[in-house]
Amino acid sequence: MQESFNFDVLVIGSGAAGLSVALRMAERARVAVLSKGPIKEGNTFYAQGGIAAVLDDRDSTESHIEDTINAGAGLCDPGIVRLTVERAPAAVRWLIDLGMPFTREAEDQTPNGYHLTREGGHSHRRVIHAADATGEALENTLEQQVRNHPNIKLFERHLAVDLITGTKLGLASGRCLGAYVLDRVRGHVDPFTARFVVIATGGASKVYLYTSNPDTATGDGIAMAWRAGCRVGNLEFNQFHPTCLYHPKAKSSLVTEAVRGEGGKLLLPDGSQFMQRFDPRGELAPRDIVARVIDHEMKRLGAECVYLDISHKPSEFIRNYFPNVYARCLEFGFDMTREPIPVVPAAHYTCGGVMTDKHGCTDVEGLYAVGEVAFTGLHGANRMASNSLLECLVFGAAASEHISAQLDSAPQPPTPPPWDESRVTDSDEEVVVSHNWEELRHFMWDYVGIVRTDKRLQRARRRAELLLHEIDEYYGNFRITNDLIELRNLAMVANLIIRSAQERKESRGLHYTLDYPHRDPSHPPANTILTPANFAGRHRPAA
Ligand code: FAD
Ligand code: SIN
Repeated sequence: MQESFNFDVLVIGSGAAGLSVALRMAERARVAVLSKGPIKEGNTFYAQGGIAAVLDDRDSTESHIEDTINAGAGLCDPGIVRLTVERAPAAVRWLIDLGMPFTREAEDQTPNGYHLTREGGHSHRRVIHAADATGEALENTLEQQVRNHPNIKLFERHLAVDLITGTKLGLASGRCLGAYVLDRVRGHVDPFTARFVVIATGGASKVYLYTSNPDTATGDGIAMAWRAGCRVGNLEFNQFHPTCLYHPKAKSSLVTEAVRGEGGKLLLPDGSQFMQRFDPRGELAPRDIVARVIDHEMKRLGAECVYLDISHKPSEFIRNYFPNVYARCLEFGFDMTREPIPVVPAAHYTCGGVMTDKHGCTDVEGLYAVGEVAFTGLHGANRMASNSLLECLVFGAAASEHISAQLDSAPQPPTPPPWDESRVTDSDEEVVVSHNWEELRHFMWDYVGIVRTDKRLQRARRRAELLLHEIDEYYGNFRITNDLIELRNLAMVANLIIRSAQERKESRGLHYTLDYPHRDPSHPPANTILTPANFAGRHRPAA
């Protein structure tokens, strides 16, 4: 028996973006929040460094804007950068009012009572944080509020499979009407309808073999929005974080950039420092540069990793400011208060995504995208550290304001047809899914990583298109599972990343190719925008 679920606002995702929209909307509307795992599981929970905002008189809005634009390598949208930076202090105050436990410092050391750290690309101390576990504190703060709000209904372990739109139902209006949702516990798909739908599903870094991200980051929102007719932008710019702990068992263990911000040095295996040879900003150059230099030096020397050394700082300082990183390193036998720790770059952040305007509106009426899933124009070709949580908060507020203004006039969605499982059976070959998943992440790492070439991209594209074809066939014949849905989305996003990378015939920011090693000097530089309607032959193998 099919249940029906109807709300004013359906929020898909329970990270910083989704929960801030839910909280801001809940005073006026009945809100549902979906989370495909436990509420906390997502990139937000693992964020370490903090949130960038101008909170010190010695800093300035203009400086935060300039740093963001410099890091973005010519592709930031200046209007969006200004809007975000100007609204940052209010976003931080909103969190403080909700009870966010930011790390404090003696009033004589800092003008506002909070410790501000520094990260790559920032020319001032402007990153407010909760030790080295800002994301955990943020997620806990928002979760507590959401769980206590009578207007918010939380659906954990509920996976949105696809968006329901008027276009798909053959209606006159193409408006987004809701989503088909798999209850992972019951194994049942129900339609959820709403007057507004907000995708806040995070990024897609799980498309790479090595990543700082948890398993949730499978690009579901990008793939769903694409299938619903939305454009996507700048997906070739996947950010690789320079320093993830190198150990066969240290899956997804980031070592925050704040370690370098507080004086950590990058060393080659022979103990020599190297960043200054490549960039005068040394360890605090923007991430694209640091990750590329590390990759270059590792390949040059045949080294498995480089080292990060902050052991010259007092051990009490290290344990106070980096308690979690310190403990995590110790688990693997490295004492960062006494010795350098081994690090490598890993996929970290999806700079591109679903195209939105300054309110978070996508190309489909009634559908919004907020947070890492979105492409607002803030990050350009490379995101500056700690601007991401900020984007979640600022655009969470902007989307909520925009939705609130239309709440009374938006139509009630019609009842969609039930999910049709009449022509599918249970899969007898789950191994196909796990095998394809592995294959995809391997070839993306090998061919679409930090350094690209035309040939590597073409190889990756052939494989991605074959996989897409195979997965489509599988999807058409078998009952859906969480793994199948994630693989389907990941393969689609991989293909979009490859196609975007092939479009860019230059090296800029996070996209570096040996075939076009320089920036295209044309002005203004172009974003890579893919439109579903123009995407011919996406399921056919390339020649
Ligand atoms: P997420 O927090 O990833 O949440 C996505 C949500 O969507 C999850 O609840 C997930 O369950 C849900 N979801 C996904 N697909 C579906 C589906 N199909 N159906 C239902 N639910 C779904 N940024 C900073 O600014 N500062 C930092 O210090 C920082 N440190 C970081 C450290 C690490 C280790 C990582 C991985 C990232 C870091 N980032 C940092 C980046 C930042 O954490 C993320 O960009 C940000 O948290 C994204 O928030 P979000 O709400 O968009 O997505
Ligand atoms: C970090 O703490 O290094 C991550 C910060 C970020 O990704 O913004």
